[in-house]
Amino acid sequence: MIPKLRNKYRPDFIIANGENSAGGRGITKAIANQLFEWGVHGITMGNHTWDNKDIFQFIDEEPRLIRPANFSPGTPGKGAMVLKENRKELVVINLQGRTFLPPGDCPFRKADELVEQYASEHRFILVDFHAEATSEKIAMGWHLDGKVSAVLGTHTHVQTNDDRILPEGTAYLTDVGMVGPRDGILGMEKTAVLHKFTTQLPARFEADGGKWHFHAVYMEFNDSNGRAVKLEKIRIQEEDYWME
Ligand SMILES: [Fe+2]
Repeated sequence: MIPKLRNKYRPDFIIANGENSAGGRGITKAIANQLFEWGVHGITMGNHTWDNKDIFQFIDEEPRLIRPANFSPGTPGKGAMVLKENRKELVVINLQGRTFLPPGDCPFRKADELVEQYASEHRFILVDFHAEATSEKIAMGWHLDGKVSAVLGTHTHVQTNDDRILPEGTAYLTDVGMVGPRDGILGMEKTAVLHKFTTQLPARFEADGGKWHFHAVYMEFNDSNGRAVKLEKIRIQEEDYWME
């Protein structure tokens, strides 16, 4: 999809959430490098950051990959990065919610801390708020309105339909959605997930091998003040891709 979308939108930066890219469980160095090779500039993570132990081998050396900034102090990796491309700079901040997810430090206070750290020297700040509850994500959107260029939610795998530019100029979407298998349950093969729901017995999930779908957003920010001027949802099904 990347060459196709790059031709259409000509983006300065492409950011991907990669926490499920290793078959639904974390990321490996080989997969991260493959994403970079395909044209991704920066990778964010989430609650599955540590699922694949490969990450411990490279997270501290890889400047283009971040994990949630509100993980405990001392955790490997970092929670924000500055990407540079063609004399343009983009700050990316990764945060994780605390509702229906493992406890972490306060994402709102951590957001304030990082925005304060970067805002004086950087106009464009993108926040990936990896969280389950729509309320917590909407709260983060309002909390950061006017302070960052965009607050995008990830984690639920379901693209929401509430894209908007908030009054002070922050692009907001509760969830970007997912890239991967469409006909399973959040990307996993559905029989095992259904079995778990109906029996409440433990089960091992594998990535579904069926048709895929691709969710993303395209955004434009005002060059002089960093405010968002455009937020467009992208949702492509495997069938549509081949028809185009
Ligand atoms: Fe997640």
